[in-house]
Amino acid sequence: MSIRSKRKEEHLTLAQMFFDKEKVNSFDQMHLLRPTLPESVVDPNSIKTRMFGKDLDAPFFINAMTGGSAKSLKINQALGKIAHQEKIAFALGSASILVNENDQLESFFVARKENPDGVIIANVNPLTSARDARRIVEEIQADALQIHLNTIQEAAMPEGDRDFRWLNNLIEIRQSVDKPIIIKEVGFGFDSKSIKLLQNNGFDLLDLAGSGGTNFAQIENARNNHDVSYLEDLGLPTVVSAMMAKKEGIDFIVSGGVRNPLDVLKGLVLGGKYVGISNFFLQEMLSHDAEYLQELVQNWKKDLAILLALYGCNNLSGVSKTESYFDLALKTQLDQLI
Ligand code: FNR
Repeated sequence: MSIRSKRKEEHLTLAQMFFDKEKVNSFDQMHLLRPTLPESVVDPNSIKTRMFGKDLDAPFFINAMTGGSAKSLKINQALGKIAHQEKIAFALGSASILVNENDQLESFFVARKENPDGVIIANVNPLTSARDARRIVEEIQADALQIHLNTIQEAAMPEGDRDFRWLNNLIEIRQSVDKPIIIKEVGFGFDSKSIKLLQNNGFDLLDLAGSGGTNFAQIENARNNHDVSYLEDLGLPTVVSAMMAKKEGIDFIVSGGVRNPLDVLKGLVLGGKYVGISNFFLQEMLSHDAEYLQELVQNWKKDLAILLALYGCNNLSGVSKTESYFDLALKTQLDQLI
């Protein structure tokens, strides 16, 4: 097994080891004002949406995790099938491994095989050349490309990058790839200054991946031989990052720490166009089976439609009018930063 494949398998093992269903995060510090008399009716169609020109049954999706190893082929096959059957989008893990190891293509392509017409999002690291990024998008037959920014993860890896001047390459990728580009974090969120910088350089869609869920400093620290656990606290909470993105007026996906349909609704109220879920879905599948995850996704769809009605919304476009309020600790952070 190559070093990169081995790292991918270690990430899977450690993401499982550190998964904490009870972890409290910024979604718990955010509350929505519910009308006692909503005058609404539950309708499964109320949560339907469109992404990159294709119809979807729900605004939440399976976000980037894996590819590039034997284990990840099986995972992507199962997730691809669920995405197809439940008509939700599916983002693959970083395919930058394909730059050097084209024999791993099947572990990514399997998602398209299982889901010929659905929304599939490819993912690369910010150092991937524009030419390779274009080839990867074509080979995976992706509808869009996520480029992940993961400075803290790199810092926590002894073998990680130490040169974080990535913007010029992001621009080159955008010029070469003819599908929508999503700039994504991996669990530490986007701050206002970086959002503005990206906006000024023509990027118009972010996947916030704020803190509160999977913590890659924790995962990499476990692979390290010296302690860098202090990096685990450097993330910007998902709700804070979403408020920043909203203020800057950029389109964004809310992700990072999403655990249930109410978190999804809160993500939409914050102004997210879509809501991404990574480790929660993966762990529900790994600790049960693919059928269990499919049923869970079906339940999330039903429950999100119920929540919309509870909050008096007939469709997704009405959701952003819902009023929200925050616990003092989160309000203090928002007051200082926004
Ligand atoms: C990830 N994530 C990730 N992100 C990315 O952009 N490219 C990648 O290759 C990976 N790989 C990966 C592997 C595993 C096992 C996990 C759990 C996660 C990060 C992921 O997309 C997401 O941003 C964070 O996990 C935060 O979301 P959750 O897990 O809290 O929902």
